[in-house]
Amino acid sequence: MADPSLPREVARRRTFAIISHPDAGKTTLTEQLLALAGVIQEAGAVKGRKAARHATSDWMNLERERGISVTSSVMQFRWRDRVVNLLDTPGHEDFSEDTYRTLTAVDAALMVLDGAKGVEERTLKLMEVCRLRDTPVLTFVNKLDREIREPLELIDEIESVLGMAASPINWPVGMGRRLKALYDLRSDLLLPYRSGAAAEAPAPVTGLAGPAAQALLGAAEHQALLAEVELLREAAATFDLAAFRRGELTPVFFGTALRGFGVRELLDAFVEWAPPPGPRRAGPRSVAPEEERFTGFVFKIQANMDPRHRDRVAFVRVCSGRYRPGLRLVQVRTGREFRVGDAVTFCARARGQVEEAVAGDIIGLINHGTIQIGDTFTEGEPLRFGGIPHFAPELFRRVRLADPLRAKQLHKGLKQLAEEGSTQVFFPLSGNDVILGAVGPLQFDVVAARLRDEYGVEARYEAVPVVTARWLAWDDPAHLEALKARAGEHLALDGSGHLTYLAPSRANLSLAEERHPRVRFEATREI
Ligand code: G4P
Repeated sequence: MADPSLPREVARRRTFAIISHPDAGKTTLTEQLLALAGVIQEAGAVKGRKAARHATSDWMNLERERGISVTSSVMQFRWRDRVVNLLDTPGHEDFSEDTYRTLTAVDAALMVLDGAKGVEERTLKLMEVCRLRDTPVLTFVNKLDREIREPLELIDEIESVLGMAASPINWPVGMGRRLKALYDLRSDLLLPYRSGAAAEAPAPVTGLAGPAAQALLGAAEHQALLAEVELLREAAATFDLAAFRRGELTPVFFGTALRGFGVRELLDAFVEWAPPPGPRRAGPRSVAPEEERFTGFVFKIQANMDPRHRDRVAFVRVCSGRYRPGLRLVQVRTGREFRVGDAVTFCARARGQVEEAVAGDIIGLINHGTIQIGDTFTEGEPLRFGGIPHFAPELFRRVRLADPLRAKQLHKGLKQLAEEGSTQVFFPLSGNDVILGAVGPLQFDVVAARLRDEYGVEARYEAVPVVTARWLAWDDPAHLEALKARAGEHLALDGSGHLTYLAPSRANLSLAEERHPRVRFEATREI
């Protein structure tokens, strides 16, 4: 029988990730959002942020028992009548392919910019990934309590650098010490700034043209704002929900996460505008989120760094149906039935309530290395969700074995770690080298530690003259042969046997692409 509550539950879901350059304020904003939603007591109160999250965690037992830190990976909270899933994307030195893949599991992204800096390099890269799937992006220009760049200049930069329209939703009146208010361009509401988090906020003022607005801002500033707003109304992109949802326009909010100013308005708009889970392609058909039968795919695997426990958590984005404890799932790749009696859910539920998850939610499957990134789980239908990409690594190391007799274990270990998404591995066609590729340097350390602990292999790394990799595709084998003849020394097989071009320099890559126009050099490969 059709479950009438399922479409309603799905429509309430909002699943997103925050993307930012390190230090733009992602953690501070996350804390503010969780504090607003009542998940944590007070934002900024706890310096050790990990501790803050642990304290609110339902998963402390799991973490203690199994040594797997899952707490900060997915945070679910309620805002208004919406259920929000915030997926963590490691942004710092632990930046890795996880970050990229997590973006394939969200329905929207929130881009946080440091207002003094604008669009920075890491943000750009993450945005590129969002663009692959036309993910809708909201923008928060942070640190308004400091001197930031000219707001108009920032809007221009977002438009030109990211290649999408930017529509200001609110506008700052002053900044840094002179910060007076935020003006909401749509509701014609002035939100006065209260300095000091504890201070009572003055009531918002309706109507920029009225005397109350002038009294709040002072005559000169009021005039300046009127002129600026007139300019904005003429020159800036108007918010268009459909364009936002197509990933063509980003609404821009100004505020300061640290002072909690402009954050509530951001969250209100976010739950209103960000899309609920939509249909997803799975092989020959598209799966609608309201379908009764469970489907989902694995976008991230978190391994236990404690060598005494081999457990891993595979994070599954639910695409349809409803997860309930005891549900029997089939791992489509192997046909194996999977008992999910002890799946981890990330529900912001009241204690005692049945744990369940619907499209947009994430569940964690505990396993011993039997699940791979990209695996699809269903109740039996042989579907396969595509679109979980491998990204061309940007860092490369040659692996050297301390004991050459352990080569077999090394290959086995690397193959498994590659399947889990911990690293990418390449075997050049000529010679016996093994080359690892990563997008974040920490990936190499993790792999070395796990090779030692789990496979008994001591590996060292050496520099290798490779700057990027491209997966090759061709229609006519003759074109590939021509490439092999001319540049065979740069060819390698990746962990799944795909032919790859390991470029010693960008110039070399351009040249190879020019010389072999009938071979496609692809920067991403779907799993
Ligand atoms: P991240 O997760 O994106 O890396 O950034 P995070 O929130 O850790 O913020 C980076 C720094 O910027 C922190 O300062 C934080 O307090 C500060 N910050 C965040 N939002 C704002 C804001 O709205 N205004 C101002 N003035 N600062 C902000 P820190 O001194 O590097 O770290 P901490 O000692 O405060 O933890």
